Amino acid sequence: MSDPTRPPGPKIIAVANQKGGVGKTTTTINLAAALAEQGFRVLLVDLDPQGNASTGLGIEPEDRKHSTYDLLLDDARLKDVILPTAVAGLWISPANSDLSSADMELVSLEKRSFLLHDALRQPDIDAFAFDYVLIDCPPSLSLLTVNAMVAAHSVLVPLQAEFFALEGLSQLMLTIREVRQSANRLLRIEGVILTMYDVRNNLSQQVEADARATLGEIVFRTMIPRNVRVSEAPSYALPVLQYDTASRGSEAYRALANELIARHLVADKKG
Ligand SMILES: Nc1ncnc2c1ncn2[C@@H]1O[C@H](COP(=O)(O)OP(=O)(O)OP(=O)(O)O)[C@@H](O)[C@H]1O
Ligand SMILES: [Mg+2]
Repeated sequence: MSDPTRPPGPKIIAVANQKGGVGKTTTTINLAAALAEQGFRVLLVDLDPQGNASTGLGIEPEDRKHSTYDLLLDDARLKDVILPTAVAGLWISPANSDLSSADMELVSLEKRSFLLHDALRQPDIDAFAFDYVLIDCPPSLSLLTVNAMVAAHSVLVPLQAEFFALEGLSQLMLTIREVRQSANRLLRIEGVILTMYDVRNNLSQQVEADARATLGEIVFRTMIPRNVRVSEAPSYALPVLQYDTASRGSEAYRALANELIARHLVADKKG
């Protein structure tokens, strides 16, 4: 969207939770697709050595010669790394298993926490005029995740509506606080999104009640239902929004995008 009043640079959102399998990648892909559907220009940064977001968007392993690893550790230019996807307006910086050694390689570098921050602020990025950058983090609070938090304006936390969902959140919040103190004073919590919600399951309702009571306003009104179409979509190399555009999962991710945009409008007015 070319809006001359838009502040320079994209909004950068890290999608993080060190717990595995809570819906980080699914949320990153489908929120990115929902924003692109609205005409925004979106870059998805796959920061997970598992490369699930890259696979889910149909990037073949042989097309990942240049990857997020090169952005971090090889001074690669964005234009040499990022690829268009089947979704109009959505680009990806793909990941492969090269990233699994990145944590160890980063440790010895003085700028170890700032590499993604710097990569996303290359002058190159202006030419793409991205509105949003969404970073799919690995399931750990490693240096890769810290790089995402240092690069980002905000952190979006998917929370699976299952037993023990809130366990581990305090450690995540502690990491966010440490990043604020050391490297990124303005880092915000974008919100907490309940995923794989099952209305027929008392446990889902209990987790929702607990999350809203404990975390308050930061929990999105929107919840992502457990929906088989959402889980099938990656094997067709598509976001669910394209795989089954009228599914409950698609509608939920559109609603999440709308809620997020509305919150940004309020925040921009205030700020
Ligand atoms: N709303 C949903 N309905 C049904 N299945 C879902 C939904 N969201 C995610 N899943 C499934 O749950 C599994 C875990 O989701 P996903 O890969 O997004 O989690 P993750 O947090 O990225 O995992 P990891 O920590 O390994 O990176 C996947 O098989 C995915 O298809
Ligand atoms: Mg993942």
